[in-house]
Amino acid sequence: MTDPIHTRYLTDTPDGIAAAADVLAAGGLLALPTETVYGLGADARVDRACARIFAAKGRPQFNPLIVHIAGMEQAEQIGTFDATARKLADAFWPGPLTLVVPMRADAGISPLVTAGNPTIGLRVPNHPLARAVLTAFGGPVAAPSANPSGKISPTMAEHVQTGLDGLIEAVIDGGACTVGVESTIVGCVDGRAVLLRPGGVSVEDIATVIGYTPAARGDSDPISAPGQLSSHYAPDAAVSLNVTAPAQDQVWVGFGPECGDAELNLSPTGDLTEAAANLFQMLRRADEIANGTRRIAFAPVPDTGLGLAINDRLRRAAAPRG
Ligand code: TXA
Ligand code: MG
Repeated sequence: MTDPIHTRYLTDTPDGIAAAADVLAAGGLLALPTETVYGLGADARVDRACARIFAAKGRPQFNPLIVHIAGMEQAEQIGTFDATARKLADAFWPGPLTLVVPMRADAGISPLVTAGNPTIGLRVPNHPLARAVLTAFGGPVAAPSANPSGKISPTMAEHVQTGLDGLIEAVIDGGACTVGVESTIVGCVDGRAVLLRPGGVSVEDIATVIGYTPAARGDSDPISAPGQLSSHYAPDAAVSLNVTAPAQDQVWVGFGPECGDAELNLSPTGDLTEAAANLFQMLRRADEIANGTRRIAFAPVPDTGLGLAINDRLRRAAAPRG
């Protein structure tokens, strides 16, 4: 255990942005907002800085990290884009899509970022503050979600402070994240798109752009997303899914108008975009209400559009704890 450090709180101001870029340039850890969730960023070229990400999160394994850049020009200095990857980047960047592509030999990225894989995950976020910090810093920023490993992903700066205070140099506050679930991850290594993680861009929208539905990752696939531990996003309380008639001791989190009695509702109107934006926040809130004595029960959420990402995260929150 290292001594706690003072975690600075930075604001969305020119001084705050400059200070945030300085933290990254000095090899420090900076939590920053993206449109999906807050990321825990470090200079992707610096081994020590990247190693500290794993230490701060308490990650059990060296899973590969997503590298955030300001635009396509920078992306192409790091990875090689086939026609499919290019179409997807054109359609969804900046935005909640991560592309896993072959890494260039001269990319200059720390091997800790790729965990030894020949591929790299790249993303151009569209949050204005993330873009401002990336532009001010000028280099690639490796960033997983800014939560202790296995815990709920942060969608507000105060969630980051709750989880990582004393372990990172700074957090810059960009308000609540609008998408609320992590990016969709698509692998493009051999001309065929593979869905590695459902997320903020729907599979339906991806299919429209590339002309087919990307296959889900198979067990024999050359690329994997080893970060996909089955128990993840775990609140303290036990979580049940697809509950339409909750027990007394369950905090019921509803979806849609038919769950009018629910203590919390991901979207009273049944809007999946709103539900995604509320998901992690309500998982935290339900855990607070449960207060160590009750359990959590989620109502069914349809498995279309962003519902695919929501149900993926809910299944992990409900998985047996490892
Ligand atoms: O929305 C997001 O994607 C957020 C924000 C901060 O950008 N980031 C995020 O990072 O969710 P993280 O570390 O929690 O999830 C990254 C996932 C992991 O499952 C990891 O295994 C996969 O991306 N990944 C990253 N690089 C990869 C690579 N080269 N090959 C296969 N999977 C990769
Ligand atoms: Mg994560």
